[in-house]
Amino acid sequence: MKVVALAAITVPLLAAAHKPNLLPRQASPPPSAATGASSAAATGSTSSLPSVSWSLAATNPTAAPLSIITQGTLTTSATLPLTTTQPAGAKPTYLSNAPPLPDLSTVSPANYPALDKSPPTDSPEVQAWIAEVNASGITIPNIAPTVAGGCAANAQAAADQSRCWWTCGGCVRDTDITTCPDKLTWGLTHDDGPAPYTPNLLQYLAQVNLSTTFFNVGSRVISYPNTIRDAYMAGNQVAVHTWSHPQMTTLTNEEIIAELGWTRKVMRDVLGVTPLYWRPPYGDIDDRVRAIGQAMNLIPVMWTRLSPTVTFDTGDFNVAGGLDSATEVLANWQFIVGNATTINTGFIVLEHDLFIQTVEIATGYILPAALANNPPLKIQPVITCMHKDFSAAYLETNDNKTNPIPNPKEGQAIPSSGGNSSSSGGGAQAGGSGSGASQSGSDAMALDVPSSSGLFALAGSAVLGLFAAFA
Ligand SMILES: *[C@@H]1O[C@H](CO)[C@@H](O)[C@H](O)[C@H]1NC(C)=O
Ligand SMILES: *[C@@H]1O[C@H](CO)[C@@H](O)[C@H](O)[C@H]1NC(C)=O
Ligand SMILES: *[C@@H]1O[C@H](CO)[C@@H](O)[C@H](O)[C@H]1NC(C)=O
Ligand SMILES: *[C@@H]1O[C@H](CO)[C@@H](O)[C@H](O)[C@H]1NC(C)=O
Ligand SMILES: *[C@@H]1O[C@H](CO)[C@@H](O)[C@H](O)[C@H]1NC(C)=O
Ligand SMILES: [Zn+2]
Repeated sequence: MKVVALAAITVPLLAAAHKPNLLPRQASPPPSAATGASSAAATGSTSSLPSVSWSLAATNPTAAPLSIITQGTLTTSATLPLTTTQPAGAKPTYLSNAPPLPDLSTVSPANYPALDKSPPTDSPEVQAWIAEVNASGITIPNIAPTVAGGCAANAQAAADQSRCWWTCGGCVRDTDITTCPDKLTWGLTHDDGPAPYTPNLLQYLAQVNLSTTFFNVGSRVISYPNTIRDAYMAGNQVAVHTWSHPQMTTLTNEEIIAELGWTRKVMRDVLGVTPLYWRPPYGDIDDRVRAIGQAMNLIPVMWTRLSPTVTFDTGDFNVAGGLDSATEVLANWQFIVGNATTINTGFIVLEHDLFIQTVEIATGYILPAALANNPPLKIQPVITCMHKDFSAAYLETNDNKTNPIPNPKEGQAIPSSGGNSSSSGGGAQAGGSGSGASQSGSDAMALDVPSSSGLFALAGSAVLGLFAAFA
């Protein structure tokens, strides 16, 4: 695709948006949900308009102007149609042992939990997954759920390094994927779809011969099954992002199992394959959530975090709600690339395909700039950047012998002569340590929204163009 060079531009940014925004995307709270810590962050912003310089190596000549990539609905961009409607029985050409695509007429929304709501735990399906977790042999640490309100509202949990709670201190375990191994390799990810503008992103990715990893919301798969089928058939990795997008550490074990189980199931029902990778919404993971994920054969993928103030989040999610500007997202992107060139590994960045704004910024600016970056970047789905074959992204296609799945009790249809898997429970294993215990105020959870009516409910409204619906 043709790209044009763009000169350096200096633009004023809102002061509120100038605070370190390589923080997870919830850094700016909706006013009505402000906690003490987060409202403090939102206040100093009365008068000054600091300037941030940014420049991009290239942009897409058909990009929407930044001036209209703001809160509200962009009027110049149309939703693109699906490239095709993938027929039942089709198989992805790049995944030789994939099962055929199921017949979508057999997938009835009535057989699934409600859109954007935490699924009930008393259904036969969830009870069966609870038994699966129970039978896994993986010890689920006895960690009490956190309460809404983030680190500030959970001072004791935030200070408890033994639970390795990413949200408050960035603690990771060896079982978390946080980077790509090779320097200057970008494990591309897009969260919260499938959504109305996902086809626009898919079309651009196809034009420039890239693919990404989509972390999909299970209940939205029911809304847009053909979109996720297109994404999968086109060679993108599809992965789990829970059913209703809650903060997972606030849930009971059974609720966590229901969120993950239904999302796995709807993706298998719509695609024929069950993802082996997932991303916790808001990055909200601790050892209890990790262990349940492991028992359910789900490997967590985070985004790169070098320090409390250098977290590889573009902030793109905040544009649709009017909390961040598009120019600030580009400035964030430049910081991310700048920091990425200083580390010896690759990197993973938080971006979203949920809103037209996030898709326009990605296809109009960030990806064209990344493709023209000097030094060159290798841009790949996470499974590829991890040096794994695409077959390792899904339970049905994975070679369980060479690539053991997380639950040591499964995937052993042909017991190997060596006997038991030596994998140990991720929940209890030692590993990477967090970069500190609690820090107040500036974490993802500083914004904490009521799980039933908060940020993701906003997202649902925003898809319909009702951006005012903050509360
Ligand atoms: C979990 O396993 C224990 C013993 O292994 C059993 O007593 C219990 O009923 C199981 N619970 C569920 C929900 O399967
Ligand atoms: C597209 O990308 C793939 C994988 O990176 C590569 O093998 C192929 O040669 C590329 N095709 C074109 C037309 O650039
Ligand atoms: C890394 O990111 C921080 C902002 O979080 C920024 O201040 C710094 O300049 C970046 N470093 C590079 C080398 O770009
Ligand atoms: C890997 O194990 C899973 C779970 O037992 C199974 O469904 C799948 O068929 C296995 N993969 C292969 C290629 O046999
Ligand atoms: C496999 O695990 C079982 C139960 O934990 C144990 O009794 C058995 O000795 C193990 N076998 C091998 C080969 O390690
Ligand atoms: Zn998300």
